[in-house]
Order: sequence, then structure tokens, then C-alpha cells
Amino acid sequence: MFEHLQPLPQDPILSMFAGYTADTHPHKLDLGIGVYKDEQGCTPIMRAVKEAESRLLTTEQSKSYTAPAGSAVYNQLASALVFGPDHPALRDQRIVSAQTPGGCGALRMAAEFIHGCSQESRVWVSMPTWANHIPLLAGAGLEIAEYPYYDYTTKGIQFEAMLQALEQASAGDFILLHGCCHNPSGADLNQEQWLAVADLMTCKGLIPFVDMAYQGLGNGLDQDAFGVRLLAERFPEMLVATSCSKNFGLYRERTGTLFIVANCSADAQTAGSQLFSKIRSHYSMPPAHGAAIVETILSDTGLTTSWECELASMRERIQGLRQQLVAAIEASGIDGDFTFIQHQSGMFSFLGITPKQVEQLRQDYSIYMINSSRMNIAGLNQGSMDYFVSALAEVLSAR
Ligand SMILES: Cc1ncc(COP(=O)(O)O)c(C=O)c1O
Repeated sequence: MFEHLQPLPQDPILSMFAGYTADTHPHKLDLGIGVYKDEQGCTPIMRAVKEAESRLLTTEQSKSYTAPAGSAVYNQLASALVFGPDHPALRDQRIVSAQTPGGCGALRMAAEFIHGCSQESRVWVSMPTWANHIPLLAGAGLEIAEYPYYDYTTKGIQFEAMLQALEQASAGDFILLHGCCHNPSGADLNQEQWLAVADLMTCKGLIPFVDMAYQGLGNGLDQDAFGVRLLAERFPEMLVATSCSKNFGLYRERTGTLFIVANCSADAQTAGSQLFSKIRSHYSMPPAHGAAIVETILSDTGLTTSWECELASMRERIQGLRQQLVAAIEASGIDGDFTFIQHQSGMFSFLGITPKQVEQLRQDYSIYMINSSRMNIAGLNQGSMDYFVSALAEVLSAR
């Protein structure tokens, strides 16, 4: 049976990273893989995480099974972080949550849940969107439609085209929106645009589905949750997938949350029973360690303050790098306007160069980014900024 299988290409980001690891260039630069990096180029374990782990080592009593929903305390703390502790949907017990294996687990379980609601369900995703959205959602049997989002010419959101496309959606369709720090473009909806999208979705009977994988890395924990909180107030039903990979640096611990917001508390209970049954038949229950870390941090004021401060310094480092990059590009005399980089949010932006130029950066300078020219701004540092900008100047001057 297996001899008939055809080999599949490796994920482009993972294979690019393998190339980077094997590269011996002394100034090699990884701007591809989507992890936060500090000034030393490391993806650090946050201080609060280290402390929580050492506390867990002494206090943890058992490794027995938990439950498909994971830890109830984690779910409650994660809900308060995402929706704000006093959100009316929480107060009215309209939200049911499940601790999941990362944001990917939350997205896939959301897709399975949607498919269980109706096999004809359709999900609209932004063009472009995070590459893994498509297999995660389509793999559950959902039909995918696309709405225009990033304009590669103006380097901003094609908001009118987005609204026009969503006008074509049918009642009951799910609209996947990035809560903040849009991956891959870094271009986020502003508050006015969130309100306009909410109005249109209300008129058309569309259901919001928000993926928020970067809360706290854009403009702040509360600011980044503006869209999610607004939609949860205005809509009777919605889904929210979140991740602790980036904002707690828990990538390999696979920690995320899926929230189902329902019309009333009874509907939330029923939806939860459907979701937990899906989880039971997929992976039974989530891994515990990452969520136990988050739970330990968020239930201790001192650890929460430490985590928030470190997260703020990560966010400010990225914002600073965005400004420095624009200034360095301007100072280098490179032709063109790159100021959009400092107006975008989170770790990613499209540099706006061609796949051939991306290839040249890789071959001649050992600077790695994916072919679309999406770069991880956090992969830069004070030591590499000049090298990067002069390589970019060389490559662009050859056009
Ligand atoms: C937009 C988006 N959603 C979800 C995820 C999933 O994150 P994870 O499964 O690593 O928690 C990512 C990770 O890169 C992402 O960029």
C-alpha cells in the first residue's frame, strides 16, 4: 500500500530554515521563521515562564489525564485575557472555551466544529492569509472563499474591495479575521474599519471567526483585542482561536484556546458538548504543561506583571526595529517609499521585493526570507541592520 504514495514537498518555511541552519556564512540572517527573537538572535524563555516552571516542578502532584476542554482555571484566565474580565459575553456565560494544542489546534477544532454545524459551511479568508489557514480549515472539509485584503501596490488594506467581496457572502458564512498583527502583511484594520466590517457582517448575517495569535505584540494586550471584544458584544455567535506561542513564547509547548461565543448560556453549553466530543475523537485532550505555565502566571500578580513587562519590551523592540529599518533604508539612498513598515504591526511585513530579489538575498548574502518577501522584523538586530540594508541596496540597484 505505502509504495504507491508520492512524496510531498516540505513546508517552504521549514525547508528554508533547514537551508539557513546548514549555511556557514558568518553574517547569515534568518528573517523567515515566525518566532520572536531578541537582540542576540535568541528566542528566549520569558522570565515569568521560567519562574512558573520552577514553581510547577515542586507543586505539581499528578500527571493523570485532564479533560477534552483542558484546565478549567486556564480557560477562565485565558477568557479574561482575550475578552477582558468584565466583558458582557463572559458575564452572561455565553462563552465556552477549550484549551487546545496551540493556535493550530484551536483553528482545526474550530473547523471541525463548523463542519459539524453544517457540512455546507464556507469560511472566507483574507487574501493573502497565513499559509497554514487553508490546510487547517479545508482539511476539516470546509469550503474556502477569499476576500481581497492586502494591496501590494499601496502597501495597505484594500478596504473597499474587502467590503465588496464580503457583500457576496451568504448568511451563515464564517469570516476569518486576524485579531491583530496580520500574518503575513502586518496591515491591521483600524477601529473604524472593525466597526464597518461588524456592521456589514450584521446586515448580511455573517459569523465572525477571529484568529488572534499575537495578542500583545501589536499595540498592547487590550488594544490588540479591540476587534474581538467588539464583535463578541455585537454578535450572538462567533468563534475565536488564540495562541500562547508568541506572547508567552511557548511555541513548542503547544498552548492555545478556542472560544465559542453563543447566543445564550444554554446554547454555549450545547456547543461545548459538540466541541468536546470532536476533541475527544481527535486528540482526546490537550497537553498540560504550557497551559499550567500560563495558569501559574496569570493567577499570580507578580508573575503577571513580570510577563506583561517583558511582553511590552518585546513589542517595543519590534516597533523600534520597524522605525530603524525605515530610517536605515532612507539613509542608504534606496529608491522607493518604505515608510509603510513603521505603520504596520507585529512581527511581519512584506518588504515588497520580487521572488528573484529574495533569492538573490539568500544566495549572495545568506539572508533568508520567504519568496513572497514576508520578513520577520524581529529577526533583525543592531548588529545586522547595516548588513541587511546594504545587501538590500545592492540587490535593488541591480534591477
Ligand atoms: C496567524 C496565525 N494563526 C495561528 C498560528 C498558530 O500558532 P501555534 O499553533 O504555533 O500556536 C500562527 C503561527 O504562526 C499564526 O501566524
